[in-house]
Amino acid sequence: MAKKEILICAGTACISAGAEEIKAKFEEEFRKLNLTEDFECKTVISSTGCVGPCSLGPVAIVKADNTFYGQLKTEDVPKIVEQHLKQGQIVEELLTEEEGEKIENFKDIRFMKKQKGLLFGIQELLIPIKLKSILKETVIRL
Ligand code: FES
Repeated sequence: MAKKEILICAGTACISAGAEEIKAKFEEEFRKLNLTEDFECKTVISSTGCVGPCSLGPVAIVKADNTFYGQLKTEDVPKIVEQHLKQGQIVEELLTEEEGEKIENFKDIRFMKKQKGLLFGIQELLIPIKLKSILKETVIRL
């Protein structure tokens, strides 16, 4: 079964903007809904290093479809868990808006479009405390 994963940026800017509270809220909602146990697909929360658009922090990315949620508040979390992670529907009203357009995909954020990722272009896939994920992704790309 496919694993669903929500990436919470744990870079300095996101931490100072409240990422730890956001992560705690995701954990609380996961426990409430028993997502890691009863859900058809195992769902996990992972902390990443800085993913890039620090001014939009705290940020979270749903890894399966690369959906980006920025400037999160703890009250946004239950909706993401219920609607996106459980039912598979993006929470449109929480998407970042740039120049009047809602941005769904992390790679389409204006800041990210200007980046040319080399080794650190895969940071959203790298979980700092999981050395294996870094080695695996690095070897594949090099
Ligand atoms: S610290 Fe989170 S995007 Fe940079």
